[in-house]
Amino acid sequence: MEKRLIIAIDGYSSCGKSTFARSIANELNYIFIDTGAMYRAVTLYCMRRNFIGKYGLNTAGVLSELKNIHIDFIYNPDINEYETFLNSENVEKEIRGIEVTDQVSRLSQIPQVRSLMVELQRKIGAHKGIVMDGRDIGTVVFPDADIKIFMTASIDIRAKRRHDELKGRDIIIDFEEIKRSLIARDIADENRDISPLRRADDAMVLDNSRMTVEEQMSWVKQIIERKRSGS
Ligand code: DC
Repeated sequence: MEKRLIIAIDGYSSCGKSTFARSIANELNYIFIDTGAMYRAVTLYCMRRNFIGKYGLNTAGVLSELKNIHIDFIYNPDINEYETFLNSENVEKEIRGIEVTDQVSRLSQIPQVRSLMVELQRKIGAHKGIVMDGRDIGTVVFPDADIKIFMTASIDIRAKRRHDELKGRDIIIDFEEIKRSLIARDIADENRDISPLRRADDAMVLDNSRMTVEEQMSWVKQIIERKRSGS
């Protein structure tokens, strides 16, 4: 039987991490976990209770509710994808909106939120055969992952991808505004005290600024083959 692997994919926002991670999982018949969706779901829960928003962050409020937040990924056969559920409610669409996107970096700086998410992620990954994408998967969640990839792309290309993605959902936002928001999130993700975004020493860098998903897949397939054959 083939060895089941843990594949950790980290990197900047809007680099195409989830698309790439999902394609690898489909190819290998593995489970794909988008950890950003977990931080987004917690953010949504806290926004609905006004613990986070325009007026600041009520950390005590967030902490008091953590035990009541349950996140699941449930397979939807109609779209052949897993969707994010927050306390049994499908929140897949809502967590991708601008409001949540603008607040999530702040919430993901709270240490207790991070430890809860990490604990859950390790539980999900315990049986291996998993592709997980995020910011701290190769550094904190699975420091012994079999394959670690750190993704990056130029800021203009990332902003264009995000712009196109939003346009596809009929959300029109100025390109420069999107770029500013991405830069702000990069700064927040790289400079938070706990588990900041950084490349694990043993991660391979993938700059996909000028690569198609197919090209990225043939790159990663070689790495997987090498890993499986033990070379
Ligand atoms: O991957 P994404 O853009 O959906 O992630 C949303 C936010 O969640 C991102 O700004 C940082 C945070 N995040 C994190 O801190 N750690 C992770 N493992 C995944 C996401």
